[in-house]
Amino acid sequence: MKSNNLDFTPDEFRRLLGRNADLIERYFSNQEEKKAYHAFPQPEVAGWFDEPLPEYGMDPDEVLDLVKERVLETATNNVGPYMYAYVMAGGTQVSILAEQLAATVNQNVGKWHLAPAMTEMEKRVVQWGSDLVGYGESVAGVLLSGGSAANLAGLTVARNLFFAKHNIREKGLFGIPPFTVYASQEVHSCVDKSLQVLGIGTRQLRKIATDEHYRMDPDALRDQVEKDKHEGFTPFCIVGTAGTVNTGAIDPLDILADIAEQYGMWYHIDGAYGVLAAALEELKPYYKGLERANSLALDFHKWLYQPFEAGCLMVKDWETLNQAYFKQADYLDTSLEDQRRLDFNEHYFQLSRSAKALKIWMSLKTYGAARMRNMIQKDIDLTHYLAEKVQESPDFELIATSHLAIVGFRYTGGIFEEEKIERMNRRLVPALEDDGRIFITGTKLKGKFALRACLINHRMQTHTLDYMLYVIGDVAQYVSDVVEE
Ligand SMILES: Cc1ncc(COP(=O)(O)O)c(C=O)c1O
Repeated sequence: MKSNNLDFTPDEFRRLLGRNADLIERYFSNQEEKKAYHAFPQPEVAGWFDEPLPEYGMDPDEVLDLVKERVLETATNNVGPYMYAYVMAGGTQVSILAEQLAATVNQNVGKWHLAPAMTEMEKRVVQWGSDLVGYGESVAGVLLSGGSAANLAGLTVARNLFFAKHNIREKGLFGIPPFTVYASQEVHSCVDKSLQVLGIGTRQLRKIATDEHYRMDPDALRDQVEKDKHEGFTPFCIVGTAGTVNTGAIDPLDILADIAEQYGMWYHIDGAYGVLAAALEELKPYYKGLERANSLALDFHKWLYQPFEAGCLMVKDWETLNQAYFKQADYLDTSLEDQRRLDFNEHYFQLSRSAKALKIWMSLKTYGAARMRNMIQKDIDLTHYLAEKVQESPDFELIATSHLAIVGFRYTGGIFEEEKIERMNRRLVPALEDDGRIFITGTKLKGKFALRACLINHRMQTHTLDYMLYVIGDVAQYVSDVVEE
């Protein structure tokens, strides 16, 4: 007889968990033999899910079969060693265990008593994150979906506190003269989007020129701030980037902190991609000044190898977050509770929140910071290896690299006209996608289109990088006719 809830019998549940475990284990087997991308046409993929709302359920084994066939066997192989596009970290296996357990206890980390252990664990994970990157002893923060959310949250806190004297949380921006935000030309688009969401508007975002290493030019920043002041704007916030998405450039963070201090501005750092590499002793000098930021965005789903989603906003104390977000509501009242309990809903926008800390906590407990640092170092060593290979090869041209783990390069094999090189590389991106053996995307660097490899997947090795260059060269042969036309 069917039970009067949605649960399986204990035996059935155990059996299905076993099947899940098999599917997961098999997904990780022979990764080096698997394609990075399966080029199914969009209508075909849409067709797999094109069905009416199922009125009656089906056998869970059949559902798992469908998931295996339509999801696992077709998934873009973000966990595999041939994924070089965007910023893809591959995930840790420990985090898979954590995600299953987090779903099991189904905690809501919006209120302490709904998630006691997960709340305290999240506070600890934020502290550990700060310890890793050197943001400082005094830290408060929240886990959120990713770098975009962390930057939006940081800029929200900045706006709400900077303009507290105008009572901005009640009055909104009405009546406040325009205020300006400063970031480099290489700033991530999520900062533009955040300013649009926050009602500040991208017209007030000053994109400051960069030097030959794609770092913000502090003299240009000072000139722009002076100009804006002269023209009646209120310089409000500097956004430094600790690892740009295009090349991994780290802005001169300490000088930016000086400028923010000099002009009484908020100082926010976008460290979504690169700040976790500050865990490496050798790289620490490049991050000097990071500890002076009023707010810091980082992403554990990037360089701490977590599965999506795991972003984080850090500030210096809990009161800052509380001032930015707290909203009294009768149904959330804590006046009858022990006030030492920290409720995340009073320190961030979300009320219901998933337990993102468990996977990070379990990863750090299992691997330890030392092993994580070794992996980050390995990624950087591999980046140097790839940059050297590119430079040595007559078929490739190195366009940009940095202290972190991104290489910008072009295929040039036997092509000498700039316009044809540009055409070849633009053509290569979709051709490589169709081919599917590796996954790489492109970007524009100082006006040139370049392939961009990001190497923060702990499963990459020197031979997988050799394979990537080999496949690019191979696919280039197929598209050379088109380029010649
Ligand atoms: C520098 C930087 N900032 C922000 C983001 C956005 O992060 P997310 O994709 O987690 O929203 C990225 C993503 O690559 C990034 O590299």
